[in-house]
Amino acid sequence: MLLVGAAGYIGSHVVNLLLNPTEGYGPIESILDGATSEIVIIDDFSNSTMDSIDYLKKKGNFTFYQETLLNYEKIDKIFQQHKFHTVLHFAAFKSVGESVASPLKYYENNLMSLINILKLMQKYKVGNLLYSSSATVYGDCEMSDLPLTEKSSVKMPLTPYGKTKFFVEEICKDCDIKTICLRYFNPVGYVLRENSKYQTNLFPVIMSVIKGEKDKLLVYGNDYPTKDGSPVRDYIHINCLGRAHILALNYFQGMESNFEVFNLGTGKGYSVLEVIGEFERQGYTVKYEIVDRREGDAAAVFADAGKARELLGWKAEYGLTEMVRDSFI
Ligand code: UD1
Repeated sequence: MLLVGAAGYIGSHVVNLLLNPTEGYGPIESILDGATSEIVIIDDFSNSTMDSIDYLKKKGNFTFYQETLLNYEKIDKIFQQHKFHTVLHFAAFKSVGESVASPLKYYENNLMSLINILKLMQKYKVGNLLYSSSATVYGDCEMSDLPLTEKSSVKMPLTPYGKTKFFVEEICKDCDIKTICLRYFNPVGYVLRENSKYQTNLFPVIMSVIKGEKDKLLVYGNDYPTKDGSPVRDYIHINCLGRAHILALNYFQGMESNFEVFNLGTGKGYSVLEVIGEFERQGYTVKYEIVDRREGDAAAVFADAGKARELLGWKAEYGLTEMVRDSFI
């Protein structure tokens, strides 16, 4: 199988699990056998470094190419050299703020990388695509929409980053390739090899404050209609997220439709102040200041992950305690 963008945060966890299915919280059953499980990774290191590849090389065998997916001819050559049955696509830029500042960079990278891959999948008759989508496709959701199920209405997100996730799902629906889009809620937990240059998500910012790299955390608002006034999100441990990919790969075999989406969240929302509280409970000091709301933030977002439980046999095993515990591994 081919994994694109797999030197990054989530992809590297999935590769690690594919190479070591017993890591994490117990063995995971995989239908993948030796004949079909050759692993090929393509990454251009736009948001990662060779470090994660070196780390993964110690865990098992795979072939790695440093290449951008925007270079169709080069990627075509890689497809010629291998027989893929499935592509896992993690190769997207993910900073919301940066996408607002540089929309074309996001549209070009996140959409063209996908279109090139889809064209090559059609050309070489590669049947299955597992795509990293996001809860951002639910757009600006209201409290009355919660919990979000896959049947909740998908709305055009406000930011270019969010729009690319929305468009990708639509593009995949129109193509004759079996696609599973995994809608991640808020992935957190340890990073095998950190790489991202743009750290604006809550957990990485808290960790920078704890490490003394940042003065304090700015808490964006405490006047939301939530339990303590700070916004609520569905954080999900990276291990749980990684395992869902393996189960989704298994699911391709019996999949009857051409397009499926799954919410990946714990189903439980935590407020920003609760997250800070858990870090403090575990012995860390998190200096913070409450400031105005961040534009575009919803009061609360959390999933109903019942479909993934029912059809993939997946459920998030870890909660906030483990997410915080494993942040500094
Ligand atoms: C953000 C993106 C979302 C993307 C997701 C990827 C926005 C509006 N949304 O979601 O499109 O899919 O990341 O993980 O950017 N917070 C603070 N101070 C900080 C950072 C965050 O108070 O310095 C709060 C936010 O207000 C929010 C919560 O922490 O309530 C989580 O924020 P974040 O990690 O940025 O994720 P989302 O906003 O949910």
